[in-house]
Parts: sequence; structure tokens; C-alpha cells
Amino acid sequence: MRGALWFYMSASELISIIQTLYGELRTSFSGDAGEASARKRAEKLTYTPSVPRSRNKARGDYRDKVHNMLLRTEELEDRPAISKLVARAFADQAKGGEPGEVALLEQLYACDEYIQQFSVVALVEDQIVGHVIATRGWLDGDVPLLGLGPIAVDPEFQGKGIGGALLNEIRDRAIAAGERGIILLGHTTYYPRFGYVPAIPAGIIPSDVSWGDHFMALQLGDKELPQGKFIYAAPFGV
Ligand SMILES: CC(C)(COP(=O)(O)OP(=O)(O)OC[C@H]1O[C@@H](n2cnc3c(N)ncnc32)[C@H](O)[C@@H]1OP(=O)(O)O)[C@@H](O)C(=O)NCCC(=O)NCCS
Repeated sequence: MRGALWFYMSASELISIIQTLYGELRTSFSGDAGEASARKRAEKLTYTPSVPRSRNKARGDYRDKVHNMLLRTEELEDRPAISKLVARAFADQAKGGEPGEVALLEQLYACDEYIQQFSVVALVEDQIVGHVIATRGWLDGDVPLLGLGPIAVDPEFQGKGIGGALLNEIRDRAIAAGERGIILLGHTTYYPRFGYVPAIPAGIIPSDVSWGDHFMALQLGDKELPQGKFIYAAPFGV
């Protein structure tokens, strides 16, 4: 069985992990001088979507003018830093070993369903502090949607709006690309803030219905959400 751990959890397991996640102290990480400087910067950073941002027309990047946080498409040379970030972000859930999300990402980069513009990094002072990826998924085998995940923000930078900024960026890119909807499996108290609703009542059925309300969908622009059975990109195996 391939895929991320969180795709195989029952809803109750997921809830217990969420509780543990917030009951435990974050492990600190030691980094180089650049990371230390970015960490210092993080203490002052609070990203709000209302902050003026400018889009670089040629590259399609967004830059938060006040905090100098850059959201841009992932490039090949970013991948080692993304792996480190994802390993740190999911460390609590991995209980010692390497989080499954690290290997999953490698498989997603290599699969047919990878779409580069939907792999986005967040940088503060040139340090990658956040990453999100959405890959091609299918409803009933022939209706294309996007499947979002994993998303990760460096533990030192969490709670500052970076996760939200990445979700909004993926949404904006998906709308611009004419996508019809985004599907994800995640925390029921977090993603609804960004417009996600339970997918099963909307007629989008996962391969494991025990995911319940953790399986969510975002309708994009004026496009109606299609209905059917959703299958993620091949590396997820679900
Ligand atoms: C989930 C994650 C990407 C959010 O990124 P972030 O930059 O910290 O999020 P934001 O700053 O936009 O939002 C912070 C808010 O989200 C809430 N939040 C963060 N993670 C949450 C979770 N797992 N469940 C519920 N709420 C969560 C915080 O409590 C905070 O709430 P507040 O605004 O009321 O204080 C980040 O916490 C992370 O990388 N977690 C570890 C990896 C992970 O679990 N990824 C998701 C897999 S489904």
C-alpha cells in the first residue's frame, strides 16, 4: 500500500492525532545562520490576506510586500529543502521514523498527475518555510479535479497565516487554470475557514467512506462541483 499515513487513518485516529499534536511541545530544530535569521523574522511575521501583494506577471509569483514572504512555484532545486521541511512538519505524526509524506512527495513529483504550477513554496528571507501540492485526481475516472496534499508549514512558522496563504494561492491558481474543484482529506476545524465543505454530502465519494467529514471539497469560481467517485493521483493508492 502506498500513500501518506493520513490517508489511511480512520476519522477517530485522525482526531486523536490532532489532539496529540496540539498537546505536545514542538521539537525545536537547529539550523544554519540563514534559518536562524528566518526564525527571528518569523517572530514578527503574521500574514493576513488583506496585506497588499504584488504578482510578478512573468513568473506568476506573489510577494507579500509588508512581510516579504514570497509564494512561488516549486523548482527542482527546492526539493531537498521541501523534504526537510515536510519531515519536520510531520515529525510528531511519524513517531520517530521518517514521515510517509516525504516519500509520497517524491512519488508525486514523478507521477503523471504532477502539475508543476500546483506545487507552491512559501519563502521568508529565501528560506522555504511552507509547501503545498495539489495533483490531478479523477471523478469516475474521467472528470478532472485537483487532490490537495500534503501541505506543510515549518513548525517554527506555524500559526502565522502561511498555511492559509498557501491554500488561497492554490485556490487562485486553480481558478485561473479553469479547474472545477479541489478535494482534500484533513482537519475539519481548519479547512472550512477556506471554504472547504464535507464532500460526501455534496456527492463526491472517497474510496474510504469512513473518512466522513474529513474528506472535503472546494468549489471553484462559478463552476459547479461535479459528483462521482474520487480517486487521487496514483501514488496515494486511494
Ligand atoms: C496544518 C498546517 C499546514 C497549517 O499551517 P499554519 O501556517 O500553521 O496555518 P495558519 O497560520 O494559516 O492557521 C493557523 C490556525 O490553524 C489552526 N490549525 C493549524 N493546524 C491545525 C490542525 N491540524 N487542526 C485544526 N486547526 C489547525 C491553528 O490552531 C490556528 O488557529 P487560530 O487561527 O484559531 O489560532 C500546519 O500546522 C502544519 O504544517 N501542520 C503539520 C502538517 C499537517 O498536519 N499538515 C496537514 C495534513 S492534513
